[in-house]
Amino acid sequence: MLNSKIEQALNKQINAELFSSYLYLSMSAWLENKGLKGMAHWMRMQADEEHVHALKFMDYVHERGGKVVLAAIDGPKTEWKSPLEVFAGAYEHECKVTGLINGLVDLALAEKDHATNAMLQWFVTEQVEEEAAAQEIVDRLKLAGDAGGMLFMIDRELGQRGAPATPAS
Ligand code: FEO
Repeated sequence: MLNSKIEQALNKQINAELFSSYLYLSMSAWLENKGLKGMAHWMRMQADEEHVHALKFMDYVHERGGKVVLAAIDGPKTEWKSPLEVFAGAYEHECKVTGLINGLVDLALAEKDHATNAMLQWFVTEQVEEEAAAQEIVDRLKLAGDAGGMLFMIDRELGQRGAPATPAS
């Protein structure tokens, strides 16, 4: 059984993951409008991945006999100056999410909830990958600068990203 502090914190995280999905969908729509279909596709896959993260947390709360209560999702940012600003925003957002996950681990440890701590370790590892993936694209976009050819190549490559795996349950 989950204690109510952990249950509340996990419900908050479900909302944060759904907000992440919403933010990345907004980024995807902006990129699509600019004709950057590959980047738009990458960001849509990122939005799907965040949706999967929310489902993982929901499944875990249910598994532990807790109650999922969905709250309103804040509206995301809708305008950016450049693809670089979009991906830099995604990187910054992932750093924030890492902070949220670390906060949850701290809480699980303080509450001596070892099962929740174990579940969260998957997310700790995932955040390392998420930050690295966004950072790599930011670095490449910085290198590309205004070179249209390089931007085109990056766009084409990001268009190859596959769909995320769905949770087992
Ligand atoms: Fe759900 Fe990108 O962290």
